[in-house]
Amino acid sequence: MKAIAINCSPRVNQNTDMMVSAALKGCVEAGFETEHYNLYQNGRFTGCLSCFGCKRAPHEGECIVNDGMKEILTAIKEADVVIFGTPNYLGDVSAGFRSLFERLQFSNLTYQKEQRWYNTYDKEVLLIMSSNASEEWYDQLSYTDVLKKYKMAFESWLGHTEVLIAGNTLQVDDYSKYNWTMFDPEKKKESRAKQFPKDLEKAEKSGLEAAGKAASKSR
Ligand SMILES: Cc1cc2nc3c(=O)[nH]c(=O)nc-3n(C[C@H](O)[C@H](O)[C@H](O)COP(=O)(O)O)c2cc1C
Repeated sequence: MKAIAINCSPRVNQNTDMMVSAALKGCVEAGFETEHYNLYQNGRFTGCLSCFGCKRAPHEGECIVNDGMKEILTAIKEADVVIFGTPNYLGDVSAGFRSLFERLQFSNLTYQKEQRWYNTYDKEVLLIMSSNASEEWYDQLSYTDVLKKYKMAFESWLGHTEVLIAGNTLQVDDYSKYNWTMFDPEKKKESRAKQFPKDLEKAEKSGLEAAGKAASKSR
């Protein structure tokens, strides 16, 4: 059984990456083979180019654009557990996550009345978002709606999707270098010390649970 994590933040070893890595750790505990991808470090990539190569034989259902994202698109189809992580950028997902979503979802869409998807799967999916906003603000800022949209999209063909949030993240180590009057650096550090470890623990537990569910489906 295989689990993969895709960090769709340009930053490596920061909040989003740490969350997807914790979730992946849970899958390791379940005995899964794992692979970790940093989307922005995997070679240049683009969103959907509208070439329609995925809608014509011999590549129906498969994105034919050969760039840094290709390996990740293939790995998603082969994995039993898929962990996506994105930072919240301007109230939405990162451009990298959106590009991945466009390529993944559109290449699988048939444009046929009779059958919507080329392939349907029963994977376990985790969708993780990290943000400055804390979780209790998600409804008010409509971030919940954004996440719901992607959850519904994945659940229509990829598999059952759990959403996880790491809010009030530490954006930089040293806030004194910036004139960011919106943030209280002490409160940010406190959240990093107290809340973030809990979020990581939750991610690890969710990874373990997702792996357990995926394993029981394969029996
Ligand atoms: C371009 C950009 C836009 C952002 N917009 C938002 C936002 O609208 N709301 C929010 O809560 N945080 C926002 N943030 C903060 C990040 O979502 C947050 O710091 C996140 O944890 C960063 O993830 P990373 O550490 O994996 O890079 C933004 C950060 C950047 C760089």
